Amino acid sequence: MSASPLLAVEGLTRRFQGLVAVDSVDLAVREGTVHGLIGPNGAGKTTLFNMVSGVLAPSAGTVRLDGRALDGLAPYRRTALGLARTFQNIRIFSEMTVLENVMTGLHTRLSARLGILLRSPGFRAEERGAKARARDLLAFVGLSEAADLRAGALPYGDQRRLEIARALACEPRLLLLDEPAAGMNPAETHALLALLRRLRDERGLTLLLVEHDMPLVMSLCDRLTVLNFGRRIADGTPAEVRAHPAVIEAYLGAGTAQAGTAQGHPDAHPQGAVS
Ligand SMILES: Nc1ncnc2c1ncn2[C@@H]1O[C@H](COP(=O)(O)OP(=O)(O)OP(=O)(O)O)[C@@H](O)[C@H]1O
Ligand SMILES: [Mg+2]
Repeated sequence: MSASPLLAVEGLTRRFQGLVAVDSVDLAVREGTVHGLIGPNGAGKTTLFNMVSGVLAPSAGTVRLDGRALDGLAPYRRTALGLARTFQNIRIFSEMTVLENVMTGLHTRLSARLGILLRSPGFRAEERGAKARARDLLAFVGLSEAADLRAGALPYGDQRRLEIARALACEPRLLLLDEPAAGMNPAETHALLALLRRLRDERGLTLLLVEHDMPLVMSLCDRLTVLNFGRRIADGTPAEVRAHPAVIEAYLGAGTAQAGTAQGHPDAHPQGAVS
């Protein structure tokens, strides 16, 4: 009776020489939810994102968006089907303005019609429309004031929000976010949490989120999938996952092996400041 998921990942696997970075992972993301993908460093989260977005070919397995298999489709084709992402290492055009960066996201849609229109009045009208739309998106992420600044001059947290605005310009149904809070201070993280909630609650967007900030993950996500050494070790609500013995062990183990990293036990901040 439940609707089929917007994103369905089945048996997804990626090998790098001897290493199985992602090992037969199943994942189902329901429409209109925020789904968290968590796990210690090197667990395979970004590799899974790369296969879903099409920048990396799987060794085995399938990715379906709204029931349609995406096998072999180039990233831009997936974007056209409603899939957008941001990157763990920010990718913006530093020398362009903030507004121009957002317009590059709109450009995929503009350019589809560009061939015949060229520099016709129709095209210029469309470009004006694109500028207005880009400004709306900047307002939505709280960057209106920065529209005409050089993107590379923005503080780190603002660059992350700019990447989100650019991804939204593609009008996705599903947005993949790879560590959007990385490098943010607590105030920025709090604002990000509110922004991501609005994307789900006001725009009905579906989010798949990789994030190490556990207070943010626990308060935002409807469901979580946990990876460790490429394998799915748990899947469920935040409360279920937090209590899962394999998850506790994975995080405690990682905490011991990598003391001093930003991550920790998923329950390390049960009353975290972010709510
Ligand atoms: N192109 C590649 N070639 C070889 N090994 C790779 C490649 N990309 C990733 N790996 C390895 O695959 C494993 C999973 O890496 P991945 O980046 O997906 O982890 P992650 O869960 O995103 O970690 P983090 O939380 O640190 O970002 C790691 O052992 C990594 O070294
Ligand atoms: Mg990663």
